Amino acid sequence: MLDKKVSELLNNQINKEFYSAYLYLDFSNYYYDQGLDGFGNWFKVQAQEERDHAMLFIQYMQNNGEKIVLDAVDKPDVALTDAKTVLEETLKHEQYVTSLIHNIYDAAYSVKDFRTMQFLDWFVKEQGEEENNADNLIKRFELFGDDPKSLYMLDNELGARVYAAPSLVL
Ligand code: FEO
Repeated sequence: MLDKKVSELLNNQINKEFYSAYLYLDFSNYYYDQGLDGFGNWFKVQAQEERDHAMLFIQYMQNNGEKIVLDAVDKPDVALTDAKTVLEETLKHEQYVTSLIHNIYDAAYSVKDFRTMQFLDWFVKEQGEEENNADNLIKRFELFGDDPKSLYMLDNELGARVYAAPSLVL
C-alpha cells in the first residue's frame, strides 16, 4: 500500500498524461491541416508517448495494489493560433508536467517512499528531455520558419520520427 496522498497524486497523473496525449493529438491535427505533415507526425508520435506514460502510472499503481479511478479527459484547451505559438505552448505544457512530477516526488520524499521515488526518477529525466525537445523545436522554427525551403526540410526531418516503446519496463 502506498501513502494516501502519494496514491492520489499518482492516480491524478494518469489523467494528466492522457490529457497530454489528447492535447498533442490536437496539435498534430492542426499541423496536418496546415500542410506541415512532418510536424503533424512528430506530435502524433508524442501523443503515443504520452499514452505510454499514462499506462506506466497505471502499471505502477497496479503493481502496488492501488485502486485506479479513471476520470474524464478534458477537451484540449490551447488556442491553435499559429505554428510557432503551438510549439511555445508545448514547452509551457511540458514545464507544467515537470512541476506535477516534482510535486509527486516531493510527496513521496516526505513519507520516505523510496520505491515511488525510484519509479519517478525515469520521469524526472524524461521531462528534462521533453522540455529540451520542445525548446529545440522553437529555436529551429525561429531559425528556419520564415524560409519556405528551410521549413520544408525541417518538416521532412520531423516526418521521419518513429514511435518507440518507452525504455522503462515495470
Ligand atoms: Fe508525459 Fe510530455 O510528459
